[in-house]
Amino acid sequence: MKAIFIILIVMACLLPIFLSGGYGISRLVNNRCTSDTDCGRSKKCSENTCISPCDGVSCGNYGHCEANNNHTSSCICESELYFNSSIGECVSHVITKYPFMYIIFINNKRYVQFYLKGDQDVNIYFTNDSLQTNENMLFMISVDTKIEGTNGEIIIIDELPPNTLSDNEYRGFWFSWDDSTMKFGKIDNHTLLHSYPIKNGLKIRYIHLSTKTDAEWLVEGLIPEKINIK
Ligand SMILES: *[C@@H]1O[C@H](CO)[C@@H](O)[C@H](O)[C@H]1NC(C)=O
Ligand SMILES: *[C@@H]1O[C@H](CO)[C@@H](O)[C@H](O)[C@H]1NC(C)=O
Ligand SMILES: *[C@@H]1O[C@H](CO)[C@@H](O)[C@H](O)[C@H]1NC(C)=O
Ligand SMILES: *[C@@H]1O[C@H](CO)[C@@H](O)[C@H](O)[C@H]1NC(C)=O
Repeated sequence: MKAIFIILIVMACLLPIFLSGGYGISRLVNNRCTSDTDCGRSKKCSENTCISPCDGVSCGNYGHCEANNNHTSSCICESELYFNSSIGECVSHVITKYPFMYIIFINNKRYVQFYLKGDQDVNIYFTNDSLQTNENMLFMISVDTKIEGTNGEIIIIDELPPNTLSDNEYRGFWFSWDDSTMKFGKIDNHTLLHSYPIKNGLKIRYIHLSTKTDAEWLVEGLIPEKINIK
């Protein structure tokens, strides 16, 4: 009878330790962990210390990191964007094919980057209207790599390096501009490929993406809108 009483008292004393999760913490010897399970569910063990699984994680310019309850983390993007871990950025995915094209409203941005898988008649227009009615636009990569300016007049004809575009793998590009110059380069190789004058005070507010045959685009941080041009 006395023995049972003592056992009950001992259990009653240990119970709060179990309930408070102290059991898990007691596995930390000198506050040092040896595996993730030594830490709380929203922490992970790194160099014998429990840290947030988001520590040192970059989710790019358009996402943020959240801890999961299994010692891992996820990059969370704004709606309609998803995190592509090989790019390390929140992107949208669209497929252009005549007569469907996409318009990207870029607001006040002066920088865009995207990945393109496709090499046939790729057109990238920079315009100040969504309907492409204004002739004052810049026309970037096409199959023969022309650059067009005002009133459809071709102002620069330039060759891009061979294999700049590919039909079976994504190639990354960036565009950056101010009031007078458009710069264009490859993402994997930070070199500037070309720089073009922006004429007649064109205010770039939209980018139009179109191709003759299927092409896939991953657009960083922006959501293109699909339109039928027929
Ligand atoms: C951890 O949780 C996340 C989010 O619930 C889940 O996507 C992931 O697959 C889990 N990982 C493991 C290893 O269980
Ligand atoms: C992520 O991006 C890479 C290009 O760097 C592409 O090959 C891959 O298919 C993309 N993944 C998804 C799920 O879209
Ligand atoms: C676009 O540019 C043209 C020519 O510079 C100008 O007349 C027009 O007002 C601009 N449109 C918008 C919406 O800014
Ligand atoms: C980057 O691209 C440019 C132009 O295509 C080329 O001349 C240069 O060698 C490339 N650099 C690297 C590191 O690949």
